[in-house]
Amino acid sequence: MKPSAVLLAGALAAILVPCCPGAPVHMQRSAHSPRSKLLLVSFDGFRWDYDQDVDTPNLDAMARDGVKARYMTPAFITLTSPCHFTLVTGKYVENHGVVHNMFYNTSSRLKLPYYTTLGIQSWWDNGSVPIWVTAQRQGLRTGSFFYPGGNVTYQGVAVTLSRKEGALHNYGNESEWRANVDTVMTWFTQHDLHLVTLYFGEPDTTGHRYGPESPQRQAMVEQVDRTVGYLRDSIAHHNLSDSLDLIVTSDHGMSSVQKTAPDLVELHKLPNFTFQDVDFELLDYGPNGMLLPKEGRLEQVYAALRGAHPRLHVYRKEEFPSSFHYAGHPRITPLLMYSDPGYVIHGRYSVQFNNGEHGFDNGDMDMKTIFRAVGPSFKEGLEVEPFESVHVYELMCQLLGIEPEANDGDPAVLRPLLRSGATLSRWPPSVMGLLGIMLLAKVA
Ligand SMILES: *[C@@H]1O[C@H](CO)[C@@H](O)[C@H](O)[C@H]1NC(C)=O
Ligand SMILES: *[C@@H]1O[C@H](CO)[C@@H](O)[C@H](O)[C@H]1NC(C)=O
Ligand SMILES: *[C@@H]1O[C@H](CO)[C@@H](O)[C@H](O)[C@H]1NC(C)=O
Ligand SMILES: *[C@@H]1O[C@H](CO)[C@@H](O)[C@H](O)[C@H]1NC(C)=O
Ligand SMILES: *[C@@H]1O[C@H](CO)[C@@H](O)[C@H](O)[C@H]1NC(C)=O
Ligand SMILES: *[C@@H]1O[C@H](CO)[C@@H](O)[C@H](O)[C@H]1NC(C)=O
Ligand SMILES: [Zn+2]
Repeated sequence: MKPSAVLLAGALAAILVPCCPGAPVHMQRSAHSPRSKLLLVSFDGFRWDYDQDVDTPNLDAMARDGVKARYMTPAFITLTSPCHFTLVTGKYVENHGVVHNMFYNTSSRLKLPYYTTLGIQSWWDNGSVPIWVTAQRQGLRTGSFFYPGGNVTYQGVAVTLSRKEGALHNYGNESEWRANVDTVMTWFTQHDLHLVTLYFGEPDTTGHRYGPESPQRQAMVEQVDRTVGYLRDSIAHHNLSDSLDLIVTSDHGMSSVQKTAPDLVELHKLPNFTFQDVDFELLDYGPNGMLLPKEGRLEQVYAALRGAHPRLHVYRKEEFPSSFHYAGHPRITPLLMYSDPGYVIHGRYSVQFNNGEHGFDNGDMDMKTIFRAVGPSFKEGLEVEPFESVHVYELMCQLLGIEPEANDGDPAVLRPLLRSGATLSRWPPSVMGLLGIMLLAKVA
């Protein structure tokens, strides 16, 4: 940096710092309502090409009226909680710490399933502040309907209006979906929320159970499509079409599971590997695995696993491919592994009920997912090239006119989706004015 630039940056920081935490931003917000309200909808496990073998008139209409990405690349690990948290933080998984669907503690060996983990505050609130809380700190009101991570507090702050599903929830009930949409509409119209995240557990559940190529999955995609139609009709009936931006996206795709192949990945059958060398394991959860070897046995376990199966990729934590942006978090164990597309990792036993799984390499086309958006801020009839899901957060901050937290996204990536002039300047006019004066001063 040249000295003048350093000076400028320092002076800017001096102006901007007081406006960031707490009350002053609140004042900024009340003087400056956001350009549009925003509804982020996630249909879990909607693979990018699920609309290609099913009639989806409503998704098609949405693409004509708005923008559509050819596909979106999720974060790795391609699991529900990690990928959903990337959408609302703009961070890769190693930077937000929600590294698995399951809470685990390698010391106590406690492991909790997905549903229970949804309610474990310390699992989610691990140093990253999601968009609900950021928006609220800047004076907006937000809501989360079943969205993973939306029902705990962050740094003591809860989402303004939050709903959590019950245990053993039936995620496929279409009448309930419509009732949930109705509720969210009242959140916008009667409770004056600016941002709502709305989650549906399908077509993931059906894709797991019957496989992504099944007629059951196709029927569920038709149900999703009807719901998109219902959603857009509801937005119109509530007179929100001109003030609400709608994003429909998902967390990851789905792949058919190899169940009868001669080369299944079965750790219990690998000759030089024994669970007696292991203190803690997280296995039998699709194609991913984590191991904490016993004191002093790391190299031995690594040697037994590395190259032991052609479809299994085992790494020391430090050597895990950095392009996955996954292993660089304290929660990741010293050894971790993933398997080839279609192959799950069996640990102590070989049991596999599901016909579909995700969790695979996010470069695999089966893991790619959807991104669609429509509303006053979005261009019409635009199809864009694929992008990574880390960028959605910056887009949402632009739509709401809020100052984002530090994150891994780039606001320039999705700006071309927006109509020109669709984003608010993030800083109040007084700051923008000062900034202008300083820039002029610098030029002079
Ligand atoms: C993990 O378990 C250990 C041993 O029971 C405990 O001391 C520690 O606080 C736990 N950590 C978390 C994050 O729950
Ligand atoms: C994140 O969680 C880990 C335990 O899993 C804990 O040791 C660490 O202190 C937490 N970090 C923050 C910033 O909350
Ligand atoms: C979780 O959701 C329930 C409603 O399902 C709500 O009563 C509760 O306040 C929410 N908790 C948080 C921390 O958001
Ligand atoms: C589906 O949801 C509706 C509305 O919430 C409810 O009345 C009905 O009992 C549910 N049906 C099933 C099979 O869960
Ligand atoms: C929508 O606007 C129309 C015309 O201004 C009005 O008649 C109607 O009551 C409004 N609907 C709602 C749900 O506010
Ligand atoms: C198992 O270890 C033995 C002794 O080090 C070695 O000779 C053998 O090749 C190993 N087998 C496999 C499958 O790695
Ligand atoms: Zn999912």
